[in-house]
Amino acid sequence: MLPTPLHPAPELAAAFGVSRPLWVKRDDLTGPGLGGNKVRKLEFLIGQALDGAADVLVTGGADQSNHARLTAILGAAVGIEVHLVLGGDEPSEWQGNQLLDRLAGARLHFAESEEWAVLEERICGVAQELASQGRRPYVIPMGGSTPVGALGYVAGFFELLDQLDAAGVKADWLVHASSTGGTQAGLVAGRVLAGRGPGILGVDVAKGGPHLQERVRDLVREVFVVLGVDKSLAATDVATTDSGGSGYGQVTEETARALTVALRSSGLVLDPVYSAKALTALPSLERGGALPGDGAIVFLHTGGSPALFSGRYANEVLKRGGSV
Ligand SMILES: Cc1ncc(COP(=O)(O)O)c(C=O)c1O
Repeated sequence: MLPTPLHPAPELAAAFGVSRPLWVKRDDLTGPGLGGNKVRKLEFLIGQALDGAADVLVTGGADQSNHARLTAILGAAVGIEVHLVLGGDEPSEWQGNQLLDRLAGARLHFAESEEWAVLEERICGVAQELASQGRRPYVIPMGGSTPVGALGYVAGFFELLDQLDAAGVKADWLVHASSTGGTQAGLVAGRVLAGRGPGILGVDVAKGGPHLQERVRDLVREVFVVLGVDKSLAATDVATTDSGGSGYGQVTEETARALTVALRSSGLVLDPVYSAKALTALPSLERGGALPGDGAIVFLHTGGSPALFSGRYANEVLKRGGSV
């Protein structure tokens, strides 16, 4: 359901103490399956799977993976079987994203581990098993962050530029939650191709460190190869910041507070793993000079709210003061 809305958010800026004009790009409203950033990637990934005559999609992620949910739902919509490898153990109660995984008819494999390396290995194992049965699996790495998946956000960046131009808004920065790097890589590649537009700042929702930046750089270069363009990447093109050192999926008091403040001030439903962490970082990024310029800031809402409706995250958010 593109283009997704872009709207000014003065109440949100006031509630978070952001002094510059703040706009929100609503990629939580991309459409099918309760939306989110993965819809843009999967449009291209599932397109490639169908072009290659695949008859089954295999992917995975954390126990409450948004990417897994949307692969299950979009796979069902185009009539292709989906196998998901999910972190942790089979739950006794079905909640949040996992409920939708099941309702969409995906075959679920529980990795009994949260380790990304274990999940990736299990995804390959499931694909090999299916291939040995004569099936034609298309493997989507966790997060859908391949150069083809990132193309969704190359297009997304041009969509945003059109909207900013139409609204007459000069935006200096686009801030968003970054994890497997595909969203950011697509946006950065789009900006390099356009030669203009807001700088991209990815808020690392895991522990931080240099890994994400390197991953985004590699992916951008691969996107240029896929597009057949000869472009180079400047050192400043890829900017990331950590989200205060809490690990992936660790709900902090700040995150829980951001979630409720966004809901009460603007009716925005965030999630505690990605979007609330990115929004939490915004005021201190502005104050600390990480967002130079005086133009507007765009917050890209990447979705993820279904995870909030799982016992795990609902209880964490309440425990950390989310209802106060
Ligand atoms: C809601 C949400 N926001 C942001 C991200 C980060 O996107 P990426 O993995 O492309 O960095 C993800 C997925 O990991 C997500 O599910």
